[in-house]
Amino acid sequence: MDGTGDRFQRETKYDPGKMSGHRLDWAAKPDLYKEYPHAQKIELPAFEPGQPMSLDKTLRQRKSVRDYQDRPISMGQLAHLLWASTGIQRIEDGYEFRTAPSAGALYPIETYVVANNVKSLEPGAYHYAIRAHQLEQLEQRDLRRQIAAAALGQGMCATAAVVFIWTAVFERSKWKYGQRAYRYIYLDAGHIAENLALAAVSLNLGTCEIGALYDNHVNAIIGIDGTEESTICMAAVGIPQ
Ligand SMILES: Cc1cc2nc3c(=O)[nH]c(=O)nc-3n(C[C@H](O)[C@H](O)[C@H](O)COP(=O)(O)O)c2cc1C
Repeated sequence: MDGTGDRFQRETKYDPGKMSGHRLDWAAKPDLYKEYPHAQKIELPAFEPGQPMSLDKTLRQRKSVRDYQDRPISMGQLAHLLWASTGIQRIEDGYEFRTAPSAGALYPIETYVVANNVKSLEPGAYHYAIRAHQLEQLEQRDLRRQIAAAALGQGMCATAAVVFIWTAVFERSKWKYGQRAYRYIYLDAGHIAENLALAAVSLNLGTCEIGALYDNHVNAIIGIDGTEESTICMAAVGIPQ
């Protein structure tokens, strides 16, 4: 059988005999940060994990958690999860680098959250403004039913304290890598998702990554077009049962 995925894998291979040697158009380099200038901004508090957990213990404890208590997580915990998954971690030669690696440091992945049960945060949809370490409010209403329905009816999205949504702004990576960018975009999202999973364990929270989703339904919840930018995957986060 030869489908889209098979052709993609074949046609995006690097081959020493077929390297085009294309030059980068620096003037056309896409911006690495998405901003919602008119959105209400919510400051994220500083957060220090109470009892740091060793990486060894964190790796041993990570597992997918789908049953959550009906209790809120704190803004500090959410702030830490956002930072740990994809926040800025160092500046070198004027370039901002993040907690997860990214092919070409092009950072195509944007992070959104649907907040269901976070202390002092209105339920709704938010975009994570990475550089400012703030949330930008996109929608202020209870989205539990919509986000669960968009995840093929997976109820954990409704009972989670928060659902992370990762999208890709494809042109950021395609600018350099063309169609091969898609390989790297999916890898980038995976790194961020694993950062979140491990950081959550270290806070005694549970996560479950979610790939079963109606892409355009999730896109509609956060108001993105599904073409220039589209959802890659999600993760539910909450206090384990
Ligand atoms: C890309 C990806 C997509 C996934 N999608 C779902 C999903 O939609 N629903 C679900 O319940 N679990 C989902 N999972 C979780 C896997 O089922 C889980 O990681 C796997 O069974 C291994 O179990 P563990 O994570 O507890 O070690 C997904 C995991 C990954 C990495």
